[in-house]
Amino acid sequence: QEPFVVGSKSFTAVAINTAAKAGEWIKSKLGDINRVDTKYSSHDLVTEVDKGSEKLIRNLIMTHFPDHSFLGEEGVEPGPEASSKALKEVSDAEYLWIVDPIDGTTNFVHGFPFFSVSIALAYKGEIIVGVVYDPARDELFVAEKGKGAYMHGKKTTVSLDSKLSESLVATGFPADRNGALPINLKGTLALAPKVRNLRSGGSAALHLAYVAAGRLSGFWEIGLSAWDIAAGALLVQESGGKVTDTAGKPFHLAVRNVLATNGQIHDELQQKLVEAEATGL
Ligand code: IPD
Ligand code: CA
Ligand code: CA
Ligand code: CA
Repeated sequence: QEPFVVGSKSFTAVAINTAAKAGEWIKSKLGDINRVDTKYSSHDLVTEVDKGSEKLIRNLIMTHFPDHSFLGEEGVEPGPEASSKALKEVSDAEYLWIVDPIDGTTNFVHGFPFFSVSIALAYKGEIIVGVVYDPARDELFVAEKGKGAYMHGKKTTVSLDSKLSESLVATGFPADRNGALPINLKGTLALAPKVRNLRSGGSAALHLAYVAAGRLSGFWEIGLSAWDIAAGALLVQESGGKVTDTAGKPFHLAVRNVLATNGQIHDELQQKLVEAEATGL
């Protein structure tokens, strides 16, 4: 079976159109949010635009592919346990769409224009299509398994930096202040003096897209979910980069602690993170 196409419908085309439609709508809502609620903790925000975007995406995808399964952040109970459980529940799905309707909700709420729509399609547990769309810059990143990654039709390739000291690296500061954040802070303390500089833009999916495009040489974060990473991980791999967990084990959909790099700085960065985790804050 050819996994990229059902009948005459290209999965990638549907993913791109859907991400573009959702992104356009989200952008039109920037600065026009009526209500901000909290989810798992007081740092974990959600708006009616997150929910509306997910509804729009789900409707479009399910109209095209009614037999496919769908996993979207806003359809899942908040918190790390619930997100792992939700992923397990759909692990038997042949075709599974994994969607983050707005990655970077905190930025969206504050009008900081760095957020994205992330849409991935997995076939028997393997990601075959990844689309990340940044509506503020109208930048669209697309990857197909085995076929490369592109930004507006131009092939993306990872950076050539081979030294940490010449690398621009990003991380994220998760909403889970008790588990994931302290571990990430240790890594930040260890890496900040070693790299050229650190960035934290606030959208894991866009950070991964930036690693794919060579704008960043590495990105790591503790405590992410499949919808934050699925599309971006394929972008990085198809751009010649490397994605593992922070312990250096191979990437798969259930990985929560992610390390994505241009490949060249991977082992050194990974080593530093392991050392950092063993230290006290
Ligand atoms: C968040 C963003 C952020 C990262 C958080 C994620 P959300 O996703 O990716 O950059 O630091 O860990 O939860 O909630 O805005 O979709
Ligand atoms: Ca969220
Ligand atoms: Ca997210
Ligand atoms: Ca989200």
